[in-house]
Amino acid sequence: MKVLVTGGAGYIGSHTVVLLIEAGYDVVVFDNFCNASIESIRRVEKIVGEEITVIEGDIRNREDLHQVFNAHKIDAVIHFAGLKAVGESVEEPLKYYDNNVNGTAVLCEVMAEYNCKSIVFSSSATVYGDPHTTPITEDFPLSATNPYGRSKLFVEEILRDVYLANNEWKVVLLRYFNPVGAHKSGTIGEDPNGIPNNLMPFITQTAVGKRDVLSVFGDDYDTVDGTGVRDYIHVVDLADGHVKALDKIKNFTKVMTINLGTGKGYSVLEMVKAFEKASGKKVPYQIAPRRAGDIATCFADPSYAKKILDWEATKGIDEMCEDSWKWQRRNPDGF
Ligand code: NAD
Ligand code: WQD
Repeated sequence: MKVLVTGGAGYIGSHTVVLLIEAGYDVVVFDNFCNASIESIRRVEKIVGEEITVIEGDIRNREDLHQVFNAHKIDAVIHFAGLKAVGESVEEPLKYYDNNVNGTAVLCEVMAEYNCKSIVFSSSATVYGDPHTTPITEDFPLSATNPYGRSKLFVEEILRDVYLANNEWKVVLLRYFNPVGAHKSGTIGEDPNGIPNNLMPFITQTAVGKRDVLSVFGDDYDTVDGTGVRDYIHVVDLADGHVKALDKIKNFTKVMTINLGTGKGYSVLEMVKAFEKASGKKVPYQIAPRRAGDIATCFADPSYAKKILDWEATKGIDEMCEDSWKWQRRNPDGF
């Protein structure tokens, strides 16, 4: 089975490519490298011990996609390609709607032209907005507080409509919670541009000496210690969820919406503590005001993923911190 992985050079994509190849899938990576380096693919090649087919192109460009589908008989697409910076999406909403929403529409049109109707899409827990309670099940009300989140909501709706119009489509909407960690080799991992927005890369960059101090955004939430609680999930567990989704897709046609989380929440200060234990490094921090748009608590009910995909997270917080640190320590400046 040949799988097209859009955004396959990125953080989650590169880890998923490793697992797909290890599971015996043929993989074609498609990426415009707007937020990734070809070096990530070179390192994936070292991990799996084989050359990977990479095509540089943009999902919004039909010609680029035709090139892929003419050269390869693609059976399914795992669609990671997208922009993901929440703050930037507020500043430049049209860039996000063009890239994430229009890009997905163009991709689906070209897929249909080539009779490829299986897609696994990277959605996000952000589509639950500010959930009224936790843990979060897939049937919770949906909302968005920024253009990035809305782009995910829109794409979910678009893919549901695509299926309604033609029941031959197989659509899996995977809603990720907070991916962290890295491949156990320490050779691939998250490599954000500029100052990290997300907690774990900020912690690791502080520990390695690239940042002076972590700002903890708010200590007055109604949580265990006042700091925000999230469901951190090891990126290799997340990648495995995609392999399980592809296995499942072979035998069904419909839309499936699935949370990928661990079901356990950790506060910011619990994360700092766990990281210090795993790395042996002190992470200096200061309490700062709440970050606009943040919520107090967010964690998954992952039982549907267990039931439908026979998937569950296997890696705990210690391994997440150890692997994040190994990647950062060995690659202080990223790829
Ligand atoms: P990433 O930025 O590392 O990977 C995205 C990849 O897509 C990059 O390699 C980038 O170069 C590529 N890309 C972007 N626009 C493209 C386009 N128009 N054409 C071709 N390639 C393009 O991000 P990631 O963390 O690996 O996230 C992957 C997906 O998962 C994204 O869709 C993101 O929104 C979603 N997601 C991420 C998180 C997270 O916290 N990392 C959480 C939930 C959902
Ligand atoms: C986690 C916790 C912060 C940085 C974001 C996106 C979401 C999804 C994942 C893609 C919060 C606190 C953070 C820092 C801090 N991405 N924090 N100091 O906000 O849950 O989700 O990434 O879909 O859409 O919104 O993740 O890692 O930014 O924050 O105190 O320097 O860490 O306030 O409580 P978040 P995060």
